[in-house]
Amino acid sequence: MSPNKVVAVIGSTGAQGFSVVQSLLPSFFVRAFTRSQEKLQSLASENPNLSVVQVDPNDTAAVKAALHGVWALFVNTFSDYTQPLGVEEKQGKGIVDAAAEAGVEWLVFSSLPDNMPFRAFVDKANVMKYAREIARKSSMKNVFVELGYYMSNSLWNPPVQAADGVVEFRWSTIDEKTYLPLIATQTDLGPILKAILEDPAKWEDTEIPIVGETLTVPQIAEIYGRVRNVPTRAVFLHHIPLETSFDGWIDMHRDFKEVGYFPAYKGRESEIREIASKLYPGLKSWEAWLREDDTRLDYVKH
Ligand SMILES: NC(=O)c1ccc[n+]([C@@H]2O[C@H](COP(=O)([O-])OP(=O)(O)OC[C@H]3O[C@@H](n4cnc5c(N)ncnc54)[C@H](OP(=O)(O)O)[C@@H]3O)[C@@H](O)[C@H]2O)c1
Repeated sequence: MSPNKVVAVIGSTGAQGFSVVQSLLPSFFVRAFTRSQEKLQSLASENPNLSVVQVDPNDTAAVKAALHGVWALFVNTFSDYTQPLGVEEKQGKGIVDAAAEAGVEWLVFSSLPDNMPFRAFVDKANVMKYAREIARKSSMKNVFVELGYYMSNSLWNPPVQAADGVVEFRWSTIDEKTYLPLIATQTDLGPILKAILEDPAKWEDTEIPIVGETLTVPQIAEIYGRVRNVPTRAVFLHHIPLETSFDGWIDMHRDFKEVGYFPAYKGRESEIREIASKLYPGLKSWEAWLREDDTRLDYVKH
């Protein structure tokens, strides 16, 4: 059956957006927004349902013009830590305005949980509040997805084999009690979005945590050891952190330890995945993600 609704995707070439584009394509016309059209050229050449538009997400007038005829819009803004605080919030609010003015019926905004002090969380949660205000004054309706901690982030801080042969998961910014709500973003977000858009009214104004499994670092290490058949341990260092993948990495993990990634679920972390697992029962566990590729997350050899 040929699709009859247009879904636009802002952030379409990223981990989140590309997963969404791929999953929606058979059922919807997809209009992918990117700053560099060539990134999606080969996919577009094979898919008549995919159109690609070159738009800077900061250019609100251009975003609005390119949203003409769009039924639903998925938005994931990029957190650029080289920019001053509030830049992401401004971009997100501009996109919300553009969507409402263009007559978009459903906005699915990739937010992050409220009450977490780290900047990407604050900026995105502020856009979520703004989208709620705009929904009260327009015909646009919202759904919010809140991505957990990508399983692929582990590649930035791989385990290291110590002199005694044990493979160590080394952290200084978080401790043995800190929970990481893990998600296989690249494969699992798309099917969730597809399920939401099959019946968006059911999820109107809901904040949906997108999480496959919530684990502590000792649990992450134990599962890795079982899957890769190596002895492992979690190690919490007390000196200057080794893991510094981007500006803000240390502060962000400290906030995960002190406040929790999903503050509203403090003390009931096992419940974080409940809504997403109903939307997509195939959600990957940490073990399934590791088993998907034998060479994934190789440890650094001694
Ligand atoms: N890593 C995690 O665990 C995690 C968890 C939850 C939420 N997040 C959030 O996810 C967002 C990143 O999304 P992602 O992982 O899908 O992104 P990604 O894979 O790093 O891709 C970046 C995307 O952002 C777009 N973009 C727009 N402006 C950009 C800029 N100034 N610099 C670089 N890229 C820009 C790029 O699009 P074009 O180049 O095609 O225009 C590209 O599609 C961040 O806001 C982060 O806070 C991450």
